[in-house]
Amino acid sequence: MDSTRLRKIFLEFFEKRGHKVVPSSSLIPSDQSVLFTTAGMQQFKPYFLGEKSPYGNRVVSIQKSVRTSDIDKVGDESHLTFFEMLGNFSFGGYFKKETIEMATEFLTKKCQLPKKKLWFTFFSGQGDLPEDADSRKFLLETGIPGQRIFSFNKETNWWGPTGNEGPCGPTVEIHFDLTGKPCDWGEKCLPNCQCGRFVEIWNLVFNEYYQNQAGELSPLKQKGVDTGMGLERLAVVCQKKASVFETDLFEPMMGIIAEGDDLERRRIIADHTRSAVFLMSEGIMPLKVERGYILRRLLRKIFNNIEILGLEQDKIYELVRTVVENYKDIYPELGHNEEKIMTIIQRESEKFEKANRAGRKIYDKMKESAQGGELTGAMAFELYSTHSIPLEITQGWERRDGAEIKNIEDYYKLRKEHQEISRAGAEKKFGGIGGEASSPEAIKLHTATHLLHASLRKVLGENIRQMGSDITPERLRFDFSLDRKLSEGEIEEIEKMVNEKIKENLPINKEEMPLERALGSGALAFFREKYPETVSVYSAGDFSKEICVGPHVESTGGLGNFKIIKQESIGSGIRRIKAVLD
Ligand code: SER
Repeated sequence: MDSTRLRKIFLEFFEKRGHKVVPSSSLIPSDQSVLFTTAGMQQFKPYFLGEKSPYGNRVVSIQKSVRTSDIDKVGDESHLTFFEMLGNFSFGGYFKKETIEMATEFLTKKCQLPKKKLWFTFFSGQGDLPEDADSRKFLLETGIPGQRIFSFNKETNWWGPTGNEGPCGPTVEIHFDLTGKPCDWGEKCLPNCQCGRFVEIWNLVFNEYYQNQAGELSPLKQKGVDTGMGLERLAVVCQKKASVFETDLFEPMMGIIAEGDDLERRRIIADHTRSAVFLMSEGIMPLKVERGYILRRLLRKIFNNIEILGLEQDKIYELVRTVVENYKDIYPELGHNEEKIMTIIQRESEKFEKANRAGRKIYDKMKESAQGGELTGAMAFELYSTHSIPLEITQGWERRDGAEIKNIEDYYKLRKEHQEISRAGAEKKFGGIGGEASSPEAIKLHTATHLLHASLRKVLGENIRQMGSDITPERLRFDFSLDRKLSEGEIEEIEKMVNEKIKENLPINKEEMPLERALGSGALAFFREKYPETVSVYSAGDFSKEICVGPHVESTGGLGNFKIIKQESIGSGIRRIKAVLD
């Protein structure tokens, strides 16, 4: 059952049951609050809310999706940054019973998966939200024994909304039992166990609620169904493979980078190349911000891992060509943009190679002058701290030389010391105010800066970028990209918006999360490249969300009256605003 066939039987199955086949939408969503299209339902969001669907109330699609939230898990058996999501949807048409019946029928009859290997979970209820007893009933009626049906809370069996607001509701998840054998947890080895026994293949979402920007739920007038099944995972179970990388979707790529024993790195190269090709096929370029930033990170990780594995950098071209070849019939944008994609890859690869050669020279020199020609941990640290050469790259070069870094523990010791020293400095650089400026007045101005930043984007457009910021106890200063003067009206509107948000007394919340997730959630950032792996995200209600080290006030109510006192140009396309609170 190859993946081409899986796609075909999925669409046919639902088409026969009255669903209109709708093509995948772009990876660049129209919903501004998310970076990428992460699910099939995104293009249908308005139809869940009652807008009339031009396709009727039953649709089926295969959606290109990118999820950066799983980027750190790539390398295991099932996580990917790009995947194709198979989904059937109902907008006010059929609901739980039919959804469960069709999904079970598709998996057991069309895909021939043994029913006894399918396990199901449903929503247990939580707080004011009731248990999804209907789903349990319909599962039992479909012939699934109670021993393979379990309930979980909101964290697991609830979905949505995507972005700031939208439809959401309880889910039924279908898991496949890969091994048939419980781990050490015995009877407690159930779906969602981390041991690798189960893989979640299909998520059936029952959109019964609408969540507004304040996080409040209200029942939807029209109930909807949104299902999503990763083609790659379906291929794993249908092709009886142990990981997505062994399916026909990845095999040709894995064949190109077969050498080397570091399976995880080879998987990362394959996954990231596929994602990068799809992103570039939609015109995304490697840049310092937003989507382009994610693309750039993916490319860097590919080049780095190729280097660390000791492979030839030219492999990237072969990999890209293979992705284009494998997918261009289904996604013609890959074929149409092949040349452009190759040009970007070549340019980025050359940049990498240039930096790499320069780094390698420094390394060679250092090694030559080392005692006995042996590289030490302290030298590896110098390569890292002074020349930005990561330890793993140095280790890769050593490996190629058949050598090993001596006294590696010195590297870790020095790195720890270095981190402690730079922490204080980082606070200022990453948007914090730190040091002498952390007076109560400055802290208030800092929070006001976030409100200003969000207001500027709302009034002048989403392409406003922070270019700099400076805060003293007396005033804030904020530089941003704009090549013209602000009108009186605009200044007034911005002031009014900030002051309204002050009056609304928005709570300021701080949340720690991985950088990728922060960026993926739409948090504003500055100097992105230099952020640590885990960042704090500060939000003011639903109005503003920024990566920042703080400090901030607890809520906006006590900030006073916000006033812009000056605007000026500080050179090519950069505008400076000074403002006070009085
Ligand atoms: N939206 C749900 C998901 O992404 C089901 O399609 O899992």
